[in-house]
Amino acid sequence: MILVTGGAGYIGSHTCVELIESGYDVLVLDNLSNSSRESLHRVERLTGHKVSFVEGDVRNGDILNVLFDTHDIDAVIHFAGLKAVGESCECPIFYYENNIECTLKLVQAMQDHNVKNLVFSSSATVYGDPQKLPLTEDMPLSATNPYGRSKLIIEEMLRDLPRADELTHSDNPWSVALLRYFNPVGAHKSGQIGEDPNGIPNNLMPFISQTAIGKRDCLSVFGGDYNTCDGTGVRDYIHVVDLAKGHVKAVQRLLSEQGLDGVQAFNLGTGHGISVLEMVNAFKDCNHVDVPYQISDRRPGDVAACYADVSRAQTELGWKAELGLADMVKDSWRWQSRNPEGYRVIG
Ligand code: NAD
Ligand code: UFG
Repeated sequence: MILVTGGAGYIGSHTCVELIESGYDVLVLDNLSNSSRESLHRVERLTGHKVSFVEGDVRNGDILNVLFDTHDIDAVIHFAGLKAVGESCECPIFYYENNIECTLKLVQAMQDHNVKNLVFSSSATVYGDPQKLPLTEDMPLSATNPYGRSKLIIEEMLRDLPRADELTHSDNPWSVALLRYFNPVGAHKSGQIGEDPNGIPNNLMPFISQTAIGKRDCLSVFGGDYNTCDGTGVRDYIHVVDLAKGHVKAVQRLLSEQGLDGVQAFNLGTGHGISVLEMVNAFKDCNHVDVPYQISDRRPGDVAACYADVSRAQTELGWKAELGLADMVKDSWRWQSRNPEGYRVIG
């Protein structure tokens, strides 16, 4: 069985679908602070399988101990965390407390129960302001905001675990996959599960979808004077279903005979950069909708371009993104247009 913390959220719910479809039993621990119980009901309907769910906080060591005592857990995927960059600048203590304490309590419980296979949700944000593209996993790391720093601190903390195994001659050493996501977008092709942000979206794709459906008047394109193909910011957008499959591959590797040696980082992206205007135009053309936009000032803290070298994930995990830009924009729109209020079911 796989314990999935934060499994009711955007990436977690898609990963539950792919895990179940690959034959794994799934146990979700989520405090629903940024998600809804409905997402997992829909995962159950999509897969025809039950998802065991516990509503609770990962920072609660007692809950974790009960879960490890009462379930046969082989590996953990740790999604639970707060992820809004702007909010993290306003409330850094809250971010460090939630993201770091969750991970500390989790690895303590894992160690106590001798379950030492972990997949951790990291982010391309750990590369800071990229000096060279594409980004490979061994490039220098830095943080530009408290959210990013929480990921960096956790990565470094996790690296100490196999070092301790060596000193203590552990016969069951830690195996940890740090998955550094680039820009997850899209939704399950059924239109049943997707990204459901609270309030005004910070990220590009949900803002485009909400503009297309008329919830927002106009998209602000943050900066038209970057040194990129059309002056707008370039990112490596990755379909959330591809990303979810990357987690399955990581779990399979951890649980394989070969295993995974210590802590290893993997970029999960497509390897291709897409500009904001390319994304807007693809959304309009593929979905036959209008997306009014205006070029505005650059957003503080944004980098001009960021995209991954994904060869390590391909070589080591046998994973490669398969879905393209058209899938991303069509699936985002299918989710948005069928669920204009997200998981808040009306009537
Ligand atoms: P999400 O907010 O949809 O999912 C996170 C889930 O964790 C939510 O269901 C939330 O209720 C839960 N959670 C938060 N704190 C918790 C706690 N203390 N105890 C129990 N549950 C808790 O976010 P997501 O987009 O699915 O992201 C999942 C992970 O991936 C996060 O760690 C995030 O930092 C990371 N990540 C996301 C992106 C992105 O753009 N979406 C990019 C890089 C990395
Ligand atoms: N953008 C706009 N208008 C908007 C929103 C975004 O023009 O309303 C632009 C941004 O300026 C950027 C691009 O769209 O050029 C992507 O912006 P997002 O906010 O969607 O994503 P970011 O690359 O800024 O950040 C995302 C996650 C972070 C994570 C980072 C790296 O939100 O949590 O990817 O993985 F750290």
